[in-house]
Amino acid sequence: MTSRHITLTLASPEATCRFARHIGAMLRPGDVLLLSGQIGAGKTHFARCLIQSLLVIPEDVPSPTFTLVQTYDTTAGELWHADLYRLTGPDESVELGLTEAFESAICLVEWPDRLQDLTPRDALLLTFAAAQTDDTRHVTLDWQAPRWDDLSVEQMA
Ligand SMILES: Nc1ncnc2c1ncn2[C@@H]1O[C@H](COP(=O)(O)OP(=O)(O)O)[C@@H](O)[C@H]1O
Ligand SMILES: [Mg+2]
Repeated sequence: MTSRHITLTLASPEATCRFARHIGAMLRPGDVLLLSGQIGAGKTHFARCLIQSLLVIPEDVPSPTFTLVQTYDTTAGELWHADLYRLTGPDESVELGLTEAFESAICLVEWPDRLQDLTPRDALLLTFAAAQTDDTRHVTLDWQAPRWDDLSVEQMA
């Protein structure tokens, strides 16, 4: 499989929200987004905007730092938002039911490095990084699955 790769600049939290809504609008059950990057890079901000754009009933979207997983009913189906920072090994992601959710739900996963060899190969990897100015972030999208070839990301930032 060929690898695809693109980097966008997100000039403000609102720009990240617009980008998140654009991605959110194309999601369906079985899609996995891996959200990578350091603490404060914007992973949860991205996930919150994406989830809120798809909620059936408006509700808060807390960071799953402590609960590990939050689940939502969305207009696109069941959605799981996971933060694997505290996981000590990939086995725990199986116990959480996350590997099953990869097949049946939309999954947004922060700290996906914890999955090691359980990382779904057809996922879209988004890596967030700080930039020179406080409110700017860079996001790099990496994928192999043809599923993500039609993102039309040029229009997103
Ligand atoms: N362009 C941007 N995109 C996303 N977040 C931004 C941006 N600029 C500033 N921020 C701020 O950076 C912080 C990111 O925090 P958070 O999303 O919790 O990070 P993470 O989940 O990666 O640890 C938030 O306070 C957010 O408002
Ligand atoms: Mg977070």
